Amino acid sequence: MPRILITGANRGLGLGVARILARRGWQVHATCRNPAKAEALAALAKDTGRVTVHALEVTDFPGIERLGRELADAAIDVLLNNAGIMNASQRTFDRGSNAHGLGQFDDDEWMQVLRVNTMAPLKMAEVFVEHVARSDRKVMATISSIMGSIGELNAGRWYPYRTSKTAVNMVMRNLAADLKPRGIAAIAIHPGWVRTEMGGPSAAVSIEDSTSGLAEVIERASFADSGKFLTWQGKEMAW
Ligand SMILES: NC(=O)c1ccc[n+]([C@@H]2O[C@H](COP(=O)([O-])OP(=O)(O)OC[C@H]3O[C@@H](n4cnc5c(N)ncnc54)[C@H](OP(=O)(O)O)[C@@H]3O)[C@@H](O)[C@H]2O)c1
Repeated sequence: MPRILITGANRGLGLGVARILARRGWQVHATCRNPAKAEALAALAKDTGRVTVHALEVTDFPGIERLGRELADAAIDVLLNNAGIMNASQRTFDRGSNAHGLGQFDDDEWMQVLRVNTMAPLKMAEVFVEHVARSDRKVMATISSIMGSIGELNAGRWYPYRTSKTAVNMVMRNLAADLKPRGIAAIAIHPGWVRTEMGGPSAAVSIEDSTSGLAEVIERASFADSGKFLTWQGKEMAW
C-alpha cells in the first residue's frame, strides 16, 4: 500500500486529502499541531484504521527531525507539504481588503509566513529525503498557490503570502533538479480558490472538488511530472 505524509492534516485541504486517500487504501501519516483537538482526524483514524496522527508544528525544525527519526523505518511514497498560512494576523482571504498591501505588514509577520510556507517544506524535504527515496513512487509535493505565480499575477497586495509561495515554487523546482539523480519527483500544486477557513466562504471551489482533484494529481504523480507547477485539475500552470 502506498504511504503519504501530510502536514496540517487536521482541517481544510490536508484533512480532505487524508480522508480520500485513506479510504482508497493509502497509509496516511497525518501531522497536526494539536492532536488532542483534531477530532475529525481521530475519527478518520478510527474509521479507516489507516491513519496515524503525529504532533508537528512545522516551524519547529528539531520537531521535524524527531518525526524523521520516529518514522525511520518507513518508506514514504509521497511527502505532501500542505500546512500554510495567509499571515499571522488574518486567517481568511478577503479579496476586497487591502490586506498586506504596501505598509500593511511588518517584517516579523512576513518572516513567520516564510517560515511556515517556504522554509518548512524545504526542511521536510531535507529530513524525509531518504524515506521518500526508499519508496516506490518517490514524490515530494507542496501545496502552493496561484498567488505565488509571477506569470498569472493580475493584482497586487499580499506581499508576504505571494512571496512565500513564489519562493516555495523555486524550492520545488530546485528540489526537482537536485533530486533528479535519485529518481525523486518534486512538484508544486495550486488547489484552486477553496472554501476552507483560509479561502473563506466566497471561494469558488468546494473542499470536496479540490481535494478529489488533488488526490488524483497525487495518485498519478510520477517522475515525468517533476519540476512542474500543476493545478488541482492536473493542468500545468505558469510559474
Ligand atoms: N484555500 C485556498 O483557497 C487555498 C488556495 C491556494 C493555496 N492554498 C494552500 O493550501 C494549503 C492548505 O490550506 P487550507 O485552505 O486547507 O487552509 P486552512 O483551512 O487554514 O488549514 C491550514 C492548515 O495548516 C496548518 N498550519 C498552519 N500553520 C501551521 C504550523 N505552523 N505548523 C503546522 N501546521 C500549521 C493548520 O493547522 P492549525 O489548525 O493548527 O492552525 C491547518 O491544518 C496551504 O498551504 C494554503 O496556502 C489554499
